[in-house]
Amino acid sequence: MNSCFIISLCLSSSFFFIDILSIEAAPEYLFHDCPNTTLFTPNSTYRSNLHALLSSLSSAAAGSTDGFANATAGQSPLERAYGLFLCRGDLNSTECSRCVATGEWDILQRCPNQRVSTIWYDQCMLRYSNRSILSAMERSLDRVLYDVGNVTDPTRFMQLLGETLNDIATRASAGGSGKKVAAAEANFTSSQKLYALAQCTPDLTASDCVKCLQFAIANLPQGKQGGRLLAPSCNLRYELYPFYDASALPSPAPPPPVPAPPPPAPVTGPKIAFESNIFTMIIIVIAVSVVSTVVVLFLARCFSRRNATDTHAVVQGGQIGLTEITNSQSMLYDLTTILAATSNFSCQNKLGNGGFGEVFLGTLLNGLPIAVKRLSQSSRQGFEEFKNEVMLLPKLQHRNVVQLLGFCLEGEEKLLVYEFVQNKSLDYFLFDPEKNKHLNWSTRYNIACGIAQGMRYLHEDSRIRIIHRDLKSSNILLDSEMNPKISDFGMARIFRIDQTLAMTERIAGTYGYMSPEYAMNGQFSVKSDVYSLGILLLELIIGKKNGFFNQVDGGEGIACYAWKNWRDGTPLLVLDPALGGTYSVNEVAKCIKIGLLCAQEDPNHRPTMADIVRELTSHPVTLELPRQPAFCHGRTGRLESDKSPGRSITGAELW
Ligand SMILES: *[C@@H]1O[C@H](CO)[C@@H](O)[C@H](O)[C@H]1NC(C)=O
Ligand SMILES: *[C@@H]1O[C@H](CO)[C@@H](O)[C@H](O)[C@H]1NC(C)=O
Ligand SMILES: *[C@@H]1O[C@H](CO)[C@@H](O)[C@H](O)[C@H]1NC(C)=O
Ligand SMILES: *[C@@H]1O[C@H](CO)[C@@H](O)[C@H](O)[C@H]1NC(C)=O
Ligand SMILES: *[C@@H]1O[C@H](CO)[C@@H](O)[C@H](O)[C@H]1NC(C)=O
Ligand SMILES: *[C@@H]1O[C@H](CO)[C@@H](O)[C@H](O)[C@H]1NC(C)=O
Ligand SMILES: *[C@@H]1O[C@H](CO)[C@@H](O)[C@H](O)[C@H]1NC(C)=O
Repeated sequence: MNSCFIISLCLSSSFFFIDILSIEAAPEYLFHDCPNTTLFTPNSTYRSNLHALLSSLSSAAAGSTDGFANATAGQSPLERAYGLFLCRGDLNSTECSRCVATGEWDILQRCPNQRVSTIWYDQCMLRYSNRSILSAMERSLDRVLYDVGNVTDPTRFMQLLGETLNDIATRASAGGSGKKVAAAEANFTSSQKLYALAQCTPDLTASDCVKCLQFAIANLPQGKQGGRLLAPSCNLRYELYPFYDASALPSPAPPPPVPAPPPPAPVTGPKIAFESNIFTMIIIVIAVSVVSTVVVLFLARCFSRRNATDTHAVVQGGQIGLTEITNSQSMLYDLTTILAATSNFSCQNKLGNGGFGEVFLGTLLNGLPIAVKRLSQSSRQGFEEFKNEVMLLPKLQHRNVVQLLGFCLEGEEKLLVYEFVQNKSLDYFLFDPEKNKHLNWSTRYNIACGIAQGMRYLHEDSRIRIIHRDLKSSNILLDSEMNPKISDFGMARIFRIDQTLAMTERIAGTYGYMSPEYAMNGQFSVKSDVYSLGILLLELIIGKKNGFFNQVDGGEGIACYAWKNWRDGTPLLVLDPALGGTYSVNEVAKCIKIGLLCAQEDPNHRPTMADIVRELTSHPVTLELPRQPAFCHGRTGRLESDKSPGRSITGAELW
């Protein structure tokens, strides 16, 4: 039974896996170009203009039918940023916007502080500059890639290639103001077909487009099985296999009278097949059986490997490829490494579900255990959170903050690689009637101190100020010695040191842990994290979820329950019975008091993380006394179902 279930789970997850690898041939990075002579300072106006520019390009991509858009950002001509993107002609707007979104983020990583940058993917090109680049033909930053395989009959091949490329160059430039793109297929041998695609940015005039493409044709390598030239204003590619979806290209404009360029050699066999629909991409094969899907997966991966690194080499413009990516981003992991480490995301390796996807256990070749968080399919929301973690976490080093080791962004896969933390999360122990016995008082107090120290680090001690925004027991991981590690930074926000309050349109967090000003008005600050910490502390003491009290105690929540007992002089009645009466009254008292102070309605009445750490780790009691917390309406009423045998002791005696 059980193994049946596991097998079917495995099958369905491998289907999922195959799906995302082959159906959507997602952005495949080719190269970037950013001259380091044009740096801007990190706090400059250009920087904020650039961010605005990229985000408007990204939104333009979502609605673009042409696979092209331009944008500018900034008032002052000196600091204005100009940008554009071009998607491969056969992509629909979904695929296009995925590529642009990847590029938007990627380009800032690869070209930090550059005024002028271009990034190329198989599927799109994104560029920006501090001068206007619209309608200006540019072919200087070209890159040529070729396939190292030689063709069997180079003379005939080059002749066929010349004809084919000249034809598509002419047709692409005639493409009007919409897309300037054309493709062709031609029979080379009985078993080999030539596929070619040419494209200009549609802002070029027809004559600039022809010039750009003729330049590209002239600079392609000779006698190779495949090649491409990528210039900012145009690109050209040919292969002996289909690499675009011919059926998705605009239908060819009626061929204008062409002054057909050179090859005077006898034209015997070869003819050009215009936009044949017969050849659909491997992608479409998917539908049917497991066997064919596996074959497609295999092929797709072979192709993507070939294209990306193995056989394409560079003849102009310096190094590209794997080495460069790994050097420029030490945090980057190869998908194959992760697949090997997690046995292809096998069910046996699954640890659970994290903030935005499944989490898998893995072991790197050097024996280091890792936890891999796998972003669920193509959730845009999740992608934002992915970016957030990748940008934030590498900057953080604290024993109570989970360590991000790296990430992987390959094909459709978005993976985060963390240090492996042995003991799952706090909620797994705390709210389980059996497992909570592993949490004795000194362990709980150690957890409370650790979380507070980790949060103080985020708020005050790290190089940047971070509001976590989703602090809760399921985001606290426990290592082999039950030390806490704060995780899940998907929603965290960076604050300037002088900034105290921010607003958000999208209120995201966990109900019950959200402070009233955040839940109701979207205002967040360090004090909203303090509120969440208060709820967490109370949960640690009481051993019940906040949500439990929403159901049984007139919906007033855990803070209200603790407050009423504190006010009535019976604070120890709230203690988790699992503690078995063994605890330090002084420490319990401190935790309840801090929990209540954190849960105050007015953020100004809540302590800071530094206050909390000081209070928890030293003797002198300095904090003011708590008042009635938020979401509490002063009615009396006890929780009848959960009376602990704690000593009766009044608040006055304790504090
Ligand atoms: C700019 O790049 C060149 C070579 O690409 C390198 O020698 C130089 O150190 C770089 N300058 C800066 C400021 O990074
Ligand atoms: C763009 O930036 C470079 C380097 O800072 C500068 O020399 C150039 O004048 C700028 N161009 C414009 C149009 O502002
Ligand atoms: C930008 O930062 C530099 C130091 O990094 C500082 O000297 C300069 O005043 C800052 N400029 C602005 C406009 O904040
Ligand atoms: C875009 O293309 C992809 C893959 O070809 C397909 O899965 C998706 O449904 C298309 N989207 C639209 C809106 O046509
Ligand atoms: C292709 O031909 C070149 C020169 O003729 C040779 O150096 C190279 O090794 C050949 N490549 C392959 C894959 O055979
Ligand atoms: C460039 O962008 C502007 C405004 O965003 C738009 O009006 C214009 O049509 C665009 N030009 C082209 C060639 O797309
Ligand atoms: C290419 O070859 C196929 C058969 O392999 C044939 O059906 C097709 O007509 C040929 N196309 C051209 C343009 O000659």
